[in-house]
Amino acid sequence: MDICRISKEETWELRQRVMWPDKDIEYVKIDNDHEGIHYGLFDHNELCSVVSLFVQGDRAQFRKFATDTNRQGKGYGTYLLNYVINEAKEMNAKLIWCNARKNKANYYKRFGLTPSNETFQKCGVDYVIMSRHL
Ligand SMILES: CC(C)(COP(=O)(O)OP(=O)(O)OC[C@H]1O[C@@H](n2cnc3c(N)ncnc32)[C@H](O)[C@@H]1OP(=O)(O)O)[C@@H](O)C(=O)NCCC(=O)NCCS
Repeated sequence: MDICRISKEETWELRQRVMWPDKDIEYVKIDNDHEGIHYGLFDHNELCSVVSLFVQGDRAQFRKFATDTNRQGKGYGTYLLNYVINEAKEMNAKLIWCNARKNKANYYKRFGLTPSNETFQKCGVDYVIMSRHL
């Protein structure tokens, strides 16, 4: 397994296929994708999992975290998220946060993120803002 920085373009297909399979690829592009640091986890040279990190001052947000549907539950996501949390620390971020799909809140709790009171809905999906001090 290998984690490396990839281009924003390399994330789009996996993001779309895993997170919003009913939407067009345009839907998963973020306006400020060019400001993000994009990470890919490769197994045998195949892209299995992606996540994008956006650092603003001492706050780091991770977005568009997705593991190929056929490869979920094998620990790829855990490995990648721990790596990215560590990257955020090394960039001197003091806080890491995300807009978590509510059905993933328990998953993120295992990484020390705690849910806030801020919730919202987008395209029928419920979200809660979660964060962790670094
Ligand atoms: C969230 C997501 C990226 C996690 O990626 P992943 O590669 O499946 O993550 P992991 O394999 O590390 O963990 C997934 C589950 O498998 C379990 N797991 C981890 N390693 C495991 C292993 N070796 N054997 C069995 N199970 C394992 C984890 O405990 C976790 O359990 P949970 O679903 O009950 O919380 C993935 O589920 C995904 O792409 N979901 C759809 C998109 C999405 O919701 N993105 C997040 C938006 S906030």
